[in-house]
Amino acid sequence: MYFPAPLKSNSLKIMLLGSGELGKEVAIEAQRLGIEVIAVDRYPQAPAHQVAHEAHVIDMQNKEEVLDLIRRVRPDYILPEIEAISIAALFEAEKEGFHVIPNAEAVNKTMNRKNIRKFAAEELGLKTSAYRFVSTLEELHEAAEAVGYPCVIKPVMSSSGHGQSVARTAADIEQSWEIAKEARGDASELIVEEFVKFDYEITLLTARTEKETVFCEPIGHEQKGGDYVFSWQPAFMSPVALERAKEIAKKVTDGLGGRGIFGVELFIKGDDVYFSEVSPRPHDTGMVTLITQSQSEFALHLRAVLGLPLDFTFFTPGASAAYKAKSESVTPVLNIDDKAFAADSFVRVFGKPESHEGRRMAVLLTMAASESEALAKAKERIGYFDDTAEVVKVVEEVREEREDETCVIKKVFKFIFGG
Ligand SMILES: Nc1ncnc2c1ncn2[C@@H]1O[C@H](COP(=O)(O)OP(=O)(O)OP(=O)(O)O)[C@@H](O)[C@H]1O
Ligand SMILES: [Mg+2]
Repeated sequence: MYFPAPLKSNSLKIMLLGSGELGKEVAIEAQRLGIEVIAVDRYPQAPAHQVAHEAHVIDMQNKEEVLDLIRRVRPDYILPEIEAISIAALFEAEKEGFHVIPNAEAVNKTMNRKNIRKFAAEELGLKTSAYRFVSTLEELHEAAEAVGYPCVIKPVMSSSGHGQSVARTAADIEQSWEIAKEARGDASELIVEEFVKFDYEITLLTARTEKETVFCEPIGHEQKGGDYVFSWQPAFMSPVALERAKEIAKKVTDGLGGRGIFGVELFIKGDDVYFSEVSPRPHDTGMVTLITQSQSEFALHLRAVLGLPLDFTFFTPGASAAYKAKSESVTPVLNIDDKAFAADSFVRVFGKPESHEGRRMAVLLTMAASESEALAKAKERIGYFDDTAEVVKVVEEVREEREDETCVIKKVFKFIFGG
């Protein structure tokens, strides 16, 4: 493959639609290969904006704004990083000859739980939890009875646990209906899923090009409120379950097609493997690969996008712990004790310009001889992170003192040199 220099008339350009912490790592990998990076998000100073050649702020749900930018930038590859993007713009861009990763239809299918569930269960015949789709409260009551209690209720368009709830009895249904309404995205339709009493859940990162498909070691994870808090790799699986997981991941990713990495989310019960959902992009639980693999999920994604070989080596068991903000701030400050910066740990601060309670601000990665040891270390070391209002206050006091000092210096200068 030829690698032109960035910022030239012939440079190779990738456009990130969504510039969060996952996009930031993809951007860094692209920078390493001299690829020109155009980072786009709906707010300024997003993590990937800060490491891109060009940063744009647009309404990503607005078809015309997205298309207009694509036509002006003319990227070689468009990488959707989040789900809240105008899908009509992606279809139109593809029609005009732009290369959407993995392809517009795959993005369309995976952004809507109804599309991907019907595709996986009904077209591909994969094992999933029992499910129903509803759009009224009455239908929700009926569906819950049919699927059985407890059941999981989710808006068809939502992520990171927003609008999700578990109904244990019929008495919970109305509350679930209310929770779903608060969700981001389109809460008009809901999926009601049988609650799978799984032994554990995994993400099977699967990278593909037209030439090959590779699997990363399975990643185990722990979710809290529908959002991941810890992940570890490899997750121990029986050989039968692992084989089934790979089979499912291959079918789903082949079915969706295109180039890139996919995060295939699976529930495991004994040797049974249930397909849950899939992201056609790097997965948050996969940040652990920054420390465990020679090519992280971000590097593999970029390699797949460019059609490069997907060979990599698994270096070491490892774990990740996400740090979520405890306070609200427009000048967020993390206080991370030196102890977190151990020889076998990486600290990654995303540089998000604002914090609010529960927003993921940083991640701690660690390696060890076994994944359980790595996980124990990650859990301990994430305790060295803080962002409480008190910390913010201390930093502000220090800054004020510094400003006072510069004031004194300025006054002295004025006194000596006049003006
Ligand atoms: N049918 C189910 N049975 C049991 N647990 C479930 C079920 N559906 C979801 N969960 C739990 O809730 C978590 C989040 O669900 P899901 O992945 O569908 O939502 P999400 O909003 O897309 O989350 P994320 O964006 O973090 O992947 C799952 O990882 C799993 O732990
Ligand atoms: Mg999920």
